[in-house]
Amino acid sequence: MLNRKLRLGFLGILLSAVVVMALSAACSGGGDSGSNQASASQEGEALFNKTCSVCHGAGAVGTQAGPPLVHELYRPGHHPDISFRNAVKNGVISHHWEFGHMPAQPGVSDQDIEKIICYVRELQIAGGIYEGEAPC
Ligand code: HEC
Repeated sequence: MLNRKLRLGFLGILLSAVVVMALSAACSGGGDSGSNQASASQEGEALFNKTCSVCHGAGAVGTQAGPPLVHELYRPGHHPDISFRNAVKNGVISHHWEFGHMPAQPGVSDQDIEKIICYVRELQIAGGIYEGEAPC
């Protein structure tokens, strides 16, 4: 009887060791996806600088050719992510400012748009436009 208990105890220790190993593997997996997240916004920054900053300015503060996106008007409650997707896909008929229309940006893929949104939302949060988390 005692022997059986001992054996069960040993099995228990073995099992917990396996569980701990599995968990730590899962956690390091989570760590990886954390660094992917960081690079999504970094890629978004590079894409933004390449395609959008010519009008919206580095850091999305605006230029003489386009409005700032770090602006209350473009917070998620007023311009949700879908309006960014639409702007890039279809362009924008001028309706808020006097800069003229925004041309569509056909060189930007769907995945790139998401990264750009991520970057702009981070800038908005950092700029105190709204409180929340960036969508990536
Ligand atoms: C040639 C200049 C130009 C470029 C390049 C440009 N934009 Fe714009 N964008 C504008 C202007 C001008 C407006 C403001 C239109 C208005 O008066 O409402 C605008 C408006 C927007 C809006 C608001 C849309 C809405 O529904 O009101 C978003 C979002 C936006 N741009 C995102 C982007 C992103 C992302 C990029 C890069 C992929 C980009 N823009 C590139 C000129 C530009």
